[in-house]
Amino acid sequence: MRVLIIGTGYVGLNTGVALAYLGNQVTCLDVNAERIAQLQVGQAPFYEPHLAEFLPLVANNLSFASSYVQIDLAQMDVAFIAVGTPSNPDGSANLDYLHKAAEDIAANLQEDSQLIVINKSTVPIGSGNWVAAIIREHYLHLHQQKANGLISVVSMPEFLKQGEALKDSFYPDRVIIGSDNPEATEKLLALYQPIIQQSFEAPSGLPRPEGLQDVPVLVCDLVSAEMIKYAANAFLALKISYINEIGRLTAKIGGDIKAVAAGIGMDKRIGPAWLDAGIGWGGSCFGKDTAALISTAAEYRVEMPIIEAAREVNYGMRNGVVEALQDHLKILKGKRIALLGFSFKPDTDDLRDSPSVDIAKGLLQRGAVVRAHDPVALNNARSQYGHLGIEFCDTVARAVEGADAIVLATAWREYLEMDWSLLPRVLVYDGRNVLDREKLSALGFEVISVGR
Ligand SMILES: NC(=O)c1ccc[n+]([C@@H]2O[C@H](COP(=O)([O-])OP(=O)(O)OC[C@H]3O[C@@H](n4cnc5c(N)ncnc54)[C@H](O)[C@@H]3O)[C@@H](O)[C@H]2O)c1
Repeated sequence: MRVLIIGTGYVGLNTGVALAYLGNQVTCLDVNAERIAQLQVGQAPFYEPHLAEFLPLVANNLSFASSYVQIDLAQMDVAFIAVGTPSNPDGSANLDYLHKAAEDIAANLQEDSQLIVINKSTVPIGSGNWVAAIIREHYLHLHQQKANGLISVVSMPEFLKQGEALKDSFYPDRVIIGSDNPEATEKLLALYQPIIQQSFEAPSGLPRPEGLQDVPVLVCDLVSAEMIKYAANAFLALKISYINEIGRLTAKIGGDIKAVAAGIGMDKRIGPAWLDAGIGWGGSCFGKDTAALISTAAEYRVEMPIIEAAREVNYGMRNGVVEALQDHLKILKGKRIALLGFSFKPDTDDLRDSPSVDIAKGLLQRGAVVRAHDPVALNNARSQYGHLGIEFCDTVARAVEGADAIVLATAWREYLEMDWSLLPRVLVYDGRNVLDREKLSALGFEVISVGR
């Protein structure tokens, strides 16, 4: 099929690469001309495992555009919208990019276009209908005639995880199609058939997970699909906040949250995933999506106390790190703190809502000297947070030089595998509960973490 992807960020680009690999003719369009120029010369615009290797592999099926003038919308079978939907200051989703994308589609539609527009952006419940309305109204405004019947809008919420985005694109846990139009549903089922049936030849760098034969599909109405995305993210967010809350108490009473989580997770109704206590979630999705869900609920005069609590616990964890360091070091003013990891999770250079940023700010506020290292996010860190007064270090050795404490904030493999015997024997805050405490203690480190 001929596929247009509008918005070439983590979701759009990875989706585009996967669909191109499956043999579709894909065009990725983005208003960020610099990003498109980079892609046109084969460079990945952000760090995501496998992406750089896949770009040349799918080059024959994947093209890039920074303007609708460079493409023929009438030739497209489907157009995915994958633009950002960041938070407004009041927590509601900012739909400006979505609005613009819908207007651009309308402005470039032809009378004979039969386009299926798929919302892959995470949009507040009801936005699918809103996008359809904008396209129709804008088309009417521009052409003085209705576009009825020319387009249908479908919701296909995206569940990929940054750091595993291509893997998740080829081997998702499920495919959700929210559609009120059976023809559009059929077309999307056809487009996704190789993924649903896992009938494609697995790329050599990304083998098919053992035992995966097919991917479950749920076809539902548009509004329910939009709700599924928010409800799923909110559930994951609260599962982590839950184990962190239990962890705070476990530490006080002298238990070990690792054992507690293992014991809880053995219950099939609960399961072991997402019960890792630590400094909490961050990234571009959980914070904004929980806020948007609360904001949407408020419009309907529904309260969401569980989700509000999940947020409160999560953001409190960041301050908890600063408090714990203060407890142990007594005075933070002038103390040197090495922050290992600045991205919100490993295998990405994305700093959106990264716990490290708030932890660094909290430490700086109390007069500490912060030196931060990250294996891939330093360029972003320097350009976005260079003004804060953090020293961003190219090596771990520089970050820990003369340190009074080390905070492991992001569980990069590099930090787990490095030779800790080369580091100064200081207080270590294991923010992800991933270090070998016994080994570190034997080496002479004092190790603290959430729930232990
Ligand atoms: N990042 C994730 O892990 C993830 C996972 C699931 C769902 N989502 C959702 O997917 C959506 C996209 O997220 P992302 O992380 O890929 O965002 P992103 O910020 O990485 O990328 C968005 C891209 O859209 C482009 N853009 C903005 N307006 C445009 C327009 N009118 N036309 C063309 N391009 C435009 C921007 O320039 C940018 O490159 C969001 O709604 C997000 O909530 C993200």
